[in-house]
Amino acid sequence: MDLGEVAARYRRWRELMPRVEPFYAVKCNDDKVLVRTLAALGAGFDCASRNEIELITGLGVAPERIIFANPAKMASHIRHASAVGVDIMTFDSEPELMKIKQYMPHAQLVLRIRCDAAAAQCPLGIKFGCDPGTDAPRLLKLAAVLGLEVIGISFHVGSGCGETEVYARAIQYCRALFTLGATLGHARMRLVDIGGGFPGGTHSSIKEVSLVINEAVETHFPDRNVRIIAEPGRYFAAAAYSLAVMIHAKREIVTKDASGEDETHTMYFMNDGVYGSFNCVLYDHQQVEATTLYPHTEKPLACSVWGPTCDSLDCVLPAARLPPLPVGAWLLFRDMGAYTMPVASPFNGFPLPKVRTLVDHRLWSVLKGLWPLAESQFEPNLGRVPAPQPPSPRGERRVFVECALK
Ligand SMILES: Cc1ncc(COP(=O)(O)O)c(C=O)c1O
Repeated sequence: MDLGEVAARYRRWRELMPRVEPFYAVKCNDDKVLVRTLAALGAGFDCASRNEIELITGLGVAPERIIFANPAKMASHIRHASAVGVDIMTFDSEPELMKIKQYMPHAQLVLRIRCDAAAAQCPLGIKFGCDPGTDAPRLLKLAAVLGLEVIGISFHVGSGCGETEVYARAIQYCRALFTLGATLGHARMRLVDIGGGFPGGTHSSIKEVSLVINEAVETHFPDRNVRIIAEPGRYFAAAAYSLAVMIHAKREIVTKDASGEDETHTMYFMNDGVYGSFNCVLYDHQQVEATTLYPHTEKPLACSVWGPTCDSLDCVLPAARLPPLPVGAWLLFRDMGAYTMPVASPFNGFPLPKVRTLVDHRLWSVLKGLWPLAESQFEPNLGRVPAPQPPSPRGERRVFVECALK
């Protein structure tokens, strides 16, 4: 895990969207160092459960910096939020309103509407978000009748969003509902939550989407008293984590190529798979890419890459091309920080990967003074890259192999 990537992404977000406060979606990756770093940098948090709230409040983060952004909450989790002062929470249905009325009538409510991107890696609208034209007005009215305070509107366009203009459409819906809310008795609506959906891969950028969002926010919410927040997950977590795995077994089989000719195909077995970190291939529809840490000159050959369990579903790359690799060679997968570790299981007795955190000395000298980070959370002489480092094409390989072996 490269802490520098997280800090750089935080800075870039603040530069590109100064009005939009990021509330990191903890579900994406609850690694302690990541959430502590984001807390130190000043982010807020989107928590979906009691445990996530406990994790973040346990760091000492003030409850005002947390939104309980799960529109279908358990009563016991609402009671916990109430007890620790996490007052802001989302809803999208009448039964949820009744539950909140019963367990936390002083909650500050945010109505989640549905506005789906034309394309998304993981669409969320099929599960959450009420119709902004029909359901939302009815729910705003009901909340007012029940004496519940609605302070804002939220949406999530879909994770791994493939359309930027959708944010403008959704922000326009928010504007219309702010206006309607005021006429229904929600006089102090003051929060727009634009959710997640931002890209997180190494080569991705939020520049284009930031232009759309900034313009829509300025057009529809020029009043600086309206607070704009977002719930990015993938954006902060994906690129900061690279996964090094070792090939522990291989098998050669003969298959047919595209022209029907016999082709030798190598099956590589590695020490992490779809039950571990690569669950993202199944659940998050991630396309992962292997690069080899093994020095090679030979040309790539047809192969497949499998996880370590005894299940045939445990295939990470069914049709890849890699140079011939011996048992003991290492592969590197980038962008492995989003929706990987929190979902992974040690099925079949295979342990989950250990995270080694790297931070360069210059950034560390800034970060270490920032609560709630502490030097003790890093492994001496391993977690930190010695400064200054001469550029070396093989330096990265050395670091990963050293970490993995230790
Ligand atoms: C309510 C909510 N907010 C934020 C996120 C984070 O989304 P992303 O990782 O696309 O930024 C999710 C992801 O499922 C979510 O359900």
